[in-house]
This record gives sequence, structure tokens and C-alpha cells, in this order.
Amino acid sequence: MLIKKPSDIKASEITDEKHYKDRRKFMQVGLGLAGAAAIPGLWLPGPVHAAREKLQGVQPSQYSSTEKPTSYKDITTYNNFYEFGTSKTDPAKYAHTLKPEPWSIAIEGEVAKPGNYHLEDMIKASTLEERIYRFRCVEAWGMVIPWVGLSLGDMLKRFEPTSRAKYVEFTTLYDLKQMPGQRRSVLNWPYVEGLGINEAMHPLSIMAVGLYGEVLPNQNGAPLRLVVPWKYGFKNIKSIVKIRFTETMPRSTWAASAPREYGFYANVNPAVNHPRWSQAKERIIGSGSIFARRKKTLMFNGYAEQVAHLYAGMDLRKNF
Ligand code: MTE
Repeated sequence: MLIKKPSDIKASEITDEKHYKDRRKFMQVGLGLAGAAAIPGLWLPGPVHAAREKLQGVQPSQYSSTEKPTSYKDITTYNNFYEFGTSKTDPAKYAHTLKPEPWSIAIEGEVAKPGNYHLEDMIKASTLEERIYRFRCVEAWGMVIPWVGLSLGDMLKRFEPTSRAKYVEFTTLYDLKQMPGQRRSVLNWPYVEGLGINEAMHPLSIMAVGLYGEVLPNQNGAPLRLVVPWKYGFKNIKSIVKIRFTETMPRSTWAASAPREYGFYANVNPAVNHPRWSQAKERIIGSGSIFARRKKTLMFNGYAEQVAHLYAGMDLRKNF
């Protein structure tokens, strides 16, 4: 991330119709308030938590961590979402301009069933699970987040990838009105990330649509974002509008902008330091001052047992 040194750190069948009606109501409330605060061209702080809405029918998951989740407040006010500014507090202040509904996703590339799909239909056809996952940002801080999501593999299989689909590329919305931070060339927009098809199909990989049992707040990547818990946070692309199946490795935004610092694989690996700082430990957000509680970072963020086999025979110092 642009954080160069620590001192820079400023601080189914599951979702029933009623739920979606409620959600629409919720969005209207949220947007109504946001509209009042939004003047074109200006970034005025909007209502951060204008309305919160529970997701119905969320099942527990066998993959959940037993650790205590980070507070809702920390998860939703300490964010990286450069489309709304580069400070950790910017997304919560400015992401009210994002309209997460209606939302559709373009499916392209090596699949039998390409097309534009409505998010609501995708969610209706899926099981929503609470997945409490450790989260590790490349900037050496961590959280525990109770996501609500659907299995990425189950979702992708519906589009029937061909045998040439070796990778999956994800793209964030590009819209200067909804995402005013894209007017600044801090990154090459739109934000793009990618996974190997075997990584995408792994049962731990999810598309998150909520957290703490509620609809995903804009600043966390509404209405759907990737969560791959054994990889650094920057892999977890937000507000996805396009999924493309490819034969060749996608060119992800961070890997393209600083290839020595942000590898394509981005597996959490305490033995491979970021060129400008150590990755051996992490600061736990919500545990007090910047010097408070640091814990040792675990290989694959603690998910080695489940995912190490995906990288058998690979040199993870080279393929970082
Ligand atoms: N996705 C988009 N589109 N834009 C971003 O700036 N930041 C990434 C990732 N996904 C980012 C993104 C980084 S660096 C991190 S650490 C996580 O989102 C942060 O997710 P969170 O704010 O929900 O904790």
C-alpha cells in the first residue's frame, strides 16, 4: 500500500424475498441521507452507519475461527479502499457515494455461461454462511472478521469454466461519481485482482456480502468483495463488477504498480519480508496504541493445514 513506513499510518436457498424487500428499504434510507450530504465534486462526510440491516438465514460455518472478532467499529472505520481516499478513515467518511443496489456482475472469458448476472439472483441461489476469519493486511496489522459470504467455488462453478480457465480475474467498479478517489492516479483504475483457479475453488475462499450478520457496509466493499483468508488483505478486492476466467495470469493492480513489493500470490508468509518492513509480526487492531500487542504472524495466516498443498513444489520466496 502507499503506507511507506509505520509513521505514515494515520491512525439456496437462503435469502428470502422479504429480506430483499427489507434491504431495498434500507438502501433507500441510506441513499436518501447520503444524497443530502453529497455535493458533486466535493467529498463531504456522509452518514457512516445510517442504517444497518440483518441478513436472514445465515448458517454457521465449520471453517470459522474461534478467536474473538474485532469490534464492528474497528472493522468499519479502519479500512483500505483507495477509491475513497488513501487514509484509513476515508472510506467510512466518503463511501456513501457508492450505490450497491441494483448490482450486476459481468462473467467473461473461459466459461460456457458468460453474461451479466444480477447479484440478487446469485445470492438467492446460494447458502449464506458466517465465516469468522483472521484477516492480515500487508501493512503488518490484523483483525478477526465475522464475514457473511457464499462459497466462491460454488458460485464460479455455475458459470461452467472451461478446461482453459487457469486463473480468475476480478475487477472493481470504475465510476468517478460513485468512487471519487478514482480521479486521483494513486493506482491504475479500476482495481484488479486475480487468483489461480485452484485457489478460487478452495472451500475457504468466499464472496462476502455481509459482516456481523448484517449487509456489508460500503466501506468494506459493498455489495460483494472477495475474502481469501490465507492471503494478504490487498488480494481481497472490493465492490466487484466483473469476473473473467483466463488462461494466463491476470495483471493485478498492486503487482503491476510495485512488482517487488506485491506478488501475485500474496500468501501470508512471515519468512518473506516486504522490501521495506518485516512481516514476522502483526499489530492487532483494537488492542490499544500502535505499539500495543503484536503477535507472531503465522504461515498462510494460520490456514496452512488447509491450503499448503495448493503450493506443493513451489518456491514461496520467489512466488511471494
Ligand atoms: N479493493 C479495492 N477495490 N480497493 C482497495 O483500495 N484495498 C485492499 C483490499 N481491497 C482495496 C481493495 C486492501 S490493501 C486491504 S488491506 C483490504 O481491501 C481492506 O479491507 P477492509 O477495509 O474491509 O478491512
